[in-house]
Amino acid sequence: MVTIYIEGKPYQVPEDHNLLQACLSLGFDLPYFCWHPALGSAGACRQCAVKQFKDVDDTQGRIVMACMTPAAESTRISIDDPEAREFRAAVIEWLMVNHPHDCPICDEGGECHLQDMTVMSGHVNREYRFPKRTYRNQDLGPFIGHEMNRCIACYRCVRFYQDYAGGRDFNVTGARDHVYFGRFEDGPFESEFSGNLVEICPTGVFTDKTLHRHYTRKWDLQTAPSICVLCGAGCNTIPGERYGTLRRIRNRYHHEVNGYFLCDRGRYGYEFVNDERRLRQATRRARQGDHAETLSPAQAVAELAALAVRRERLIGIGSPRASLEANFALRALVGAERFSTGLPAQQAGLLDLILDVLRNGPVRSPSIRDIAQADAVLVLGEDVTQVTPRVALALRQAVRQGPLRELAELHIPPWQDAGIREAIQDERGPLFIAAVHATHLDDVATLTYRAAPDDLARLGFAVAHLLDTQAPDVDDLTAEQRLIAEAIAADLQAAERPLVVTGVTHGNHALVQAAANVALALCNAERAASLACLVPESNSIGLAMMGGMNLDAALQYVQEEQADTVIILENDLHRRMETVAIASLLADRRVVVLDYLENEITQIADLFLPTATFAECSGTLVNYEGRAQRFFQVFEPAGDVRPAHRWLFEAMNTGREDDSETWEHLDTITKTLAQAMPQFAPLLSDVPLVALGMKIPRQSPRHSGRTAIHADQDVNVPRPPQDPDSPLSFSMEGFEGQPPAALIPRYWAPGWNSVQALNKFQQEVGGPLRGGDPGQRLLEAPASPRQTYSGSAPSAFRPRAEQWLLVPIHHIFGSEPLSLLTPGIAALAPHPYLALNPADAAKLGLVEGEMALLDDGSSLPIKLLPSLPQGVAGLPEGLAARESMGTYSSLRSAKRANGSAESD
Ligand code: SF4
Ligand code: SF4
Ligand code: FES
Repeated sequence: MVTIYIEGKPYQVPEDHNLLQACLSLGFDLPYFCWHPALGSAGACRQCAVKQFKDVDDTQGRIVMACMTPAAESTRISIDDPEAREFRAAVIEWLMVNHPHDCPICDEGGECHLQDMTVMSGHVNREYRFPKRTYRNQDLGPFIGHEMNRCIACYRCVRFYQDYAGGRDFNVTGARDHVYFGRFEDGPFESEFSGNLVEICPTGVFTDKTLHRHYTRKWDLQTAPSICVLCGAGCNTIPGERYGTLRRIRNRYHHEVNGYFLCDRGRYGYEFVNDERRLRQATRRARQGDHAETLSPAQAVAELAALAVRRERLIGIGSPRASLEANFALRALVGAERFSTGLPAQQAGLLDLILDVLRNGPVRSPSIRDIAQADAVLVLGEDVTQVTPRVALALRQAVRQGPLRELAELHIPPWQDAGIREAIQDERGPLFIAAVHATHLDDVATLTYRAAPDDLARLGFAVAHLLDTQAPDVDDLTAEQRLIAEAIAADLQAAERPLVVTGVTHGNHALVQAAANVALALCNAERAASLACLVPESNSIGLAMMGGMNLDAALQYVQEEQADTVIILENDLHRRMETVAIASLLADRRVVVLDYLENEITQIADLFLPTATFAECSGTLVNYEGRAQRFFQVFEPAGDVRPAHRWLFEAMNTGREDDSETWEHLDTITKTLAQAMPQFAPLLSDVPLVALGMKIPRQSPRHSGRTAIHADQDVNVPRPPQDPDSPLSFSMEGFEGQPPAALIPRYWAPGWNSVQALNKFQQEVGGPLRGGDPGQRLLEAPASPRQTYSGSAPSAFRPRAEQWLLVPIHHIFGSEPLSLLTPGIAALAPHPYLALNPADAAKLGLVEGEMALLDDGSSLPIKLLPSLPQGVAGLPEGLAARESMGTYSSLRSAKRANGSAESD
């Protein structure tokens, strides 16, 4: 720490900060545009001017840019100096010369950093009287609007998009005062992180098109702290609702998880909440095939309670997309021995293996921030960008760590962005990607290796053995494979913070064992190694930690134990089981379904109970890292929709005379869960048992129209809905201070209406939230780890003569079923296809677009994928039948099959 003087008063600040960071962290209001805590300083906008004085006797001083000046010992500055104020007012006047002043119709209005800084800088009179510069805007696809006339040329967008996120289709073009920030031609952004431009841009150039479609003023949005449910990363979000419609998702800062950024699936994939296919009423069928009759909520609870009395005849099937509390409530209703996780045996086995490694070994499960800090990385088997996108953005930062370390002797401060880039140039730290096909991270990879899943596992085993001869070896590697393994092992061993990334995409046990062995070997070599095991769903790890039968065991159970009622919680089994297995599970049994969207299982439910989406209820999810995080209800859903846990515990409480186990609200479930299962004990310290005395308002103090919203029904203002499940209220009144980090429903501070108000909620800018970031890590390496190497290398993959190994290919847009209901995501999702190496396609006489027939009778158009190994065929996850993944299939030309090939 060093001492600096602001307006003559001494302050302690970190020595690696610049003066802007220091001032903001101390709570001063100093305007800025081009600096961003994640991007560093560019010195482009000249807005953060302050007066710096040589020493205590210097009364003259000189204007400096705070963001470009180190906070050195004894630095003396003035923010209030009249010349500095005048300078800042002049700068913003120049920046506003060509600005259209269209705030009343601008989507950014009311939440705009440019508006805030204009007011803060004191520019009130516009004197420029000449024509303004104008631009033609671009169509940037379904997510992002473009209004270039609002640009103030701060360069944040291009620095984020290119330098931070690695995008190549967006740049700045032009010269002097006529520069243009856009794509090279109209069309959707290629980067999976383009939505962050909406928050990065300090004015209204890039705006959220999904919000625009059902626009409401930002201060009228009702908001609550939430967690993204669209993959296993657990990014923190702030969803916003108005008039019963979810209208947008914004980033919610979490220092260890998503930081300042989300991926585009997480930001835009929310529209399933508003989908017309939402089911909003409970129904009952007397017999399968009968017309469903509508039930009142009380009738539905009574029906469920009547079934629950005969507990021994029930089986409950949970879900990795439902909260811990909802799963636990189902488990309590049916009994622990009759609870299934709802996961296929293969995936459940892999999750158990991951838990075993992370619970018992020395290997640490890294946060996304830890991943960004890794200085050598091996990715084994995953297409990270498509499966857990935010982790891929972190890996793009990880490749800078090695070169940054080598720069230490140049003494370039970490915020000096241009200086660092100039020094690093194109140098990158080691990132090895061993995957089945090309990935979107390959452009920053040191080396890529493409092979079938078993061969990827073999490479992992070989690397582990090179690091530690105690680890199982692989006998018959080719010379090329051995060279690759040696290169990987050498770089991992030389690193201070090596990282291995793997996952469950291929359902391949050996792959995860190999990755775990590499991480363990590094730990044994005294490296602070970490292992990130990526999972596809928001609560896969939480559910695995809770435990229960897998789906195969559940099927056996219903057959052997003669369960006559199957209760399915938010789980579309058709994505996890073969159709025949589902038929065996459900045939001649009462089927009770709790869900929020229609699917093939809801259509055959004897009793259906409509449940709430993440935006309509509260609960806890555990991300890939083992971090339990709470999400809170944003709004009251229409119809008879209720949180799944509420349906379940109301049925349990019905008719119960002994109230010792009665659950009244979410916290009582969370508490019971944490007390009943030691693995969840840390949740006890996270249960927000309302210590504030008043509830925290979900509505901003500027929320408007409350008296008019229901005026068509009643002129009296109705009592706001009550929320027994959280310390938040559906109102604009209540607690007025800064809430605890886990309960921040929006970022706002006096004079700071944009997302930049976040500065006021952090311990220091870019650091953790005040009071510590929310959530509890449930998986920590034990003090005395006991873990040995596991598994053995599988045999080498040998392409079969007439058969192809079917592997899943993930797509950020398309593979996740909920987000696919967002029209923009559906528009960007690929059509179903079958990917083949061109050599394999040639053997079959197939060209791109021609139809191929699979063993199961399905036919798909061929997509040529040169990076795919021969003997392997790729099917898009979630878009083609899942049943066949991981198996071999013969392939034939559909033309030949129908006998028309010769005539062609
Ligand atoms: S488009 Fe926005 S972020 Fe980009 S330079 Fe202009 S004002 Fe800055
Ligand atoms: S990375 Fe995953 S959790 Fe994060 S925003 Fe994207 S889909 Fe959501
Ligand atoms: S924020 Fe300092 S010059 Fe832009």
